[in-house]
Amino acid sequence: MRHNVIRQLRRYARTAVLCLSAAGVLVVLGGATPAISAPNEGGSPCADCHDKATASFNSSYHAKAWKGANGCQACHGSTDQHLNTEQAKNTIISFSKDGGRSAKELTAQCLSCHSSTNHVAFWETSRHKAAGMSCASCHTGHSNLPKNLKMPQTELCFSCHKDVRSQVNRQSHHPIKEGKVSCTDCHDPHGGFGNKMIKADSVNELCFKCHADKRGPFMWEHPPVEENCMICHTPHGSSHTKLLSKKSPNICQSCHDYSFHPSTPYGANGSFTNGTPVRQFVGRNCLNCHTNVHGSNGAGSQGLRFVR
Ligand code: HEC
Ligand code: HEC
Ligand code: HEC
Ligand code: HEC
Ligand code: HEC
Ligand code: HEC
Ligand code: HEC
Ligand code: HEC
Ligand code: HEC
Ligand code: HEC
Repeated sequence: MRHNVIRQLRRYARTAVLCLSAAGVLVVLGGATPAISAPNEGGSPCADCHDKATASFNSSYHAKAWKGANGCQACHGSTDQHLNTEQAKNTIISFSKDGGRSAKELTAQCLSCHSSTNHVAFWETSRHKAAGMSCASCHTGHSNLPKNLKMPQTELCFSCHKDVRSQVNRQSHHPIKEGKVSCTDCHDPHGGFGNKMIKADSVNELCFKCHADKRGPFMWEHPPVEENCMICHTPHGSSHTKLLSKKSPNICQSCHDYSFHPSTPYGANGSFTNGTPVRQFVGRNCLNCHTNVHGSNGAGSQGLRFVR
């Protein structure tokens, strides 16, 4: 059995070498379709032993983009030695964990064609690169899913970011599970200049892309809103309403002196048991009266106090 494999590998080696030399220069993005023969059809030097991988490649986005030409070598490197040795394993570029190649080496296989693609221009800054990942941590050459992903996007991101998955399951959340917003609306997994790989120069600029009404300018601005939306909100999900990081009134009282005008019956300035309750705690929730916490254009002191 082992002998057969070796003989078979040797026989294929010749074909592969021929294929490779015929291949010449590999596809360059935007360049001409390569003049590579199509050994995937019929007498493939790979299909006999890797029928599933050959079939999945043939129906992949890449194979279609390359018009069916043999692309195995473009990613897996020279197959020469692989076909010509007893040690089939590790004589070829494998993207699996125990393939023995560094993330840098694997990434180079993809960047040989994709270095000029806009989306990966900032790969050097990516937290994913810093964490030792390669392109193949998320993509595969054999995929027929959009953007050649290994699995649908949300599932892919959740597979590693389990904390974010649990946030998104909370009562108030950006509609990611519902398919109305995706992780990559806000993040670029390939990196960028924004903190946390967000697709904007600042958190506020990111939020304004979809919540333009919060941009202002307002006659009366509320400093924390100008500073960073994350002072009061969480990005993915919260167990408080409206993605708030704390419930109201606590969220307001974390900055505003509780003693100014209390919103609970037991404040220092008044209570149910002690004289007339201060009028502000009738509503209890600061937001019942201060309805425009993001900023107001209301006239006079009511605007100033975000009451209108
Ligand atoms: C005669 C059988 C045979 C042929 C033909 C063959 N291989 Fe392999 N290949 C193997 C064996 C055996 C392994 C080692 C598998 C293992 O360790 O699980 C392997 C491993 C691989 C791997 C690594 C798999 C992994 O788990 O990541 C790749 C990629 C690969 N081959 C690509 C090719 C390509 C491309 C061709 C055609 C040019 C080819 N092979 C032709 C037998 C073959
Ligand atoms: C565009 C790059 C690319 C091309 C072209 C490509 N592959 Fe792959 N291949 C990959 C990546 C990336 C993986 C790792 C997939 C994963 O981790 O899920 C892989 C995995 C594999 C594996 C191991 C996993 C499996 O499904 O058994 C084999 C074998 C393989 N490829 C063979 C081939 C053969 C044969 C061809 C040509 C017909 C080919 N590949 C073309 C990128 C490519
Ligand atoms: C031989 C050149 C070549 C290599 C090597 C290559 N690609 Fe591609 N790739 C292409 C071409 C050509 C297209 C189709 C044109 C396009 O969509 O930009 C493409 C398309 C893609 C797309 C989809 C783009 C879209 O807009 O849908 C992704 C994602 C991708 N490649 C990732 C990879 C990854 C990851 C690797 C390494 C495992 C890789 N590619 C290796 C040439 C290559
Ligand atoms: C952490 C996961 C992850 C890693 C690592 C990753 N990508 Fe992507 N990539 C994605 C996702 C998700 C998309 C789809 C983005 C979208 O739909 O907006 C994508 C899209 C792409 C596209 C299509 C761009 C377009 O215009 O839509 C290309 C090309 C690409 N990736 C190449 C690469 C290359 C090359 C590498 C390695 C340098 C890489 N990716 C690493 C997740 C990843
Ligand atoms: C294979 C595992 C894996 C996958 C898949 C993955 N990530 Fe990551 N991601 C990581 C690791 C590891 C880090 C680095 C964590 C750290 O340094 O704390 C990271 C970091 C990040 C960060 C930056 C965190 C920071 O502190 O700066 C963001 C944002 C992110 N990932 C988003 C995504 C998105 C969006 C997707 C899906 C397109 C995705 N990730 C897919 C593993 C993964
Ligand atoms: C509406 C925009 C938005 C969406 C959608 C989004 N994020 Fe985020 N994400 C952010 C912002 C903003 C931050 C930075 C928070 C900060 O600065 O404290 C962040 C932070 C992160 C971090 C860093 C760790 C942390 O919790 O601070 C990771 C990892 C992350 N996001 C992953 C994801 C994943 C995975 C998805 C999809 C399931 C996703 N994000 C969807 C806006 C978003
Ligand atoms: C890609 C578009 C997009 C971006 C960017 C975005 N959002 Fe949203 N946001 C939405 C959508 C869609 C909803 C759901 C609206 C609905 O159901 O009416 C939403 C809802 C919300 C809600 C209400 C949640 C609830 O439970 O009712 C808050 C608060 C919010 N976003 C804050 C933010 C903040 C803060 C940022 C910046 C980190 C941000 N959003 C960035 C699209 C976005
Ligand atoms: C001082 C705390 C605070 C800051 C900072 C803040 N918000 Fe809010 N936000 C709230 C509160 C409180 C609510 C709930 C209002 C309600 O339920 O009436 C809310 C609700 C929202 C809502 C959902 C309801 C609506 O009005 O559309 C969105 C969207 C939103 N905020 C976006 C933002 C954005 C974008 C930023 C940054 C520019 C931001 N918020 C900064 C406190 C804040
Ligand atoms: C991160 C701190 C912070 C949080 C949280 C915060 N505020 Fe403010 N707020 C300020 C600052 C700073 C001012 C500017 C006036 C000042 O210096 O007192 C201000 C001003 C105001 C004013 C106008 C007062 C005046 O004197 O002009 C009102 C009303 C107000 N905030 C209500 C709220 C409400 C309601 C909440 C909860 C949704 C809230 N604030 C949350 C920091 C905060
Ligand atoms: C019943 C309605 C009501 C409730 C509830 C309420 N406020 Fe007010 N608040 C007002 C009005 C009206 C003013 C303006 C008072 C004035 O101009 O004399 C005001 C003024 C303020 C000011 C400005 C103080 C100054 O120095 O000018 C702050 C800060 C403030 N409220 C914060 C809060 C916080 C925090 C909560 C919740 C803990 C809260 N308010 C609950 C109605 C309310």
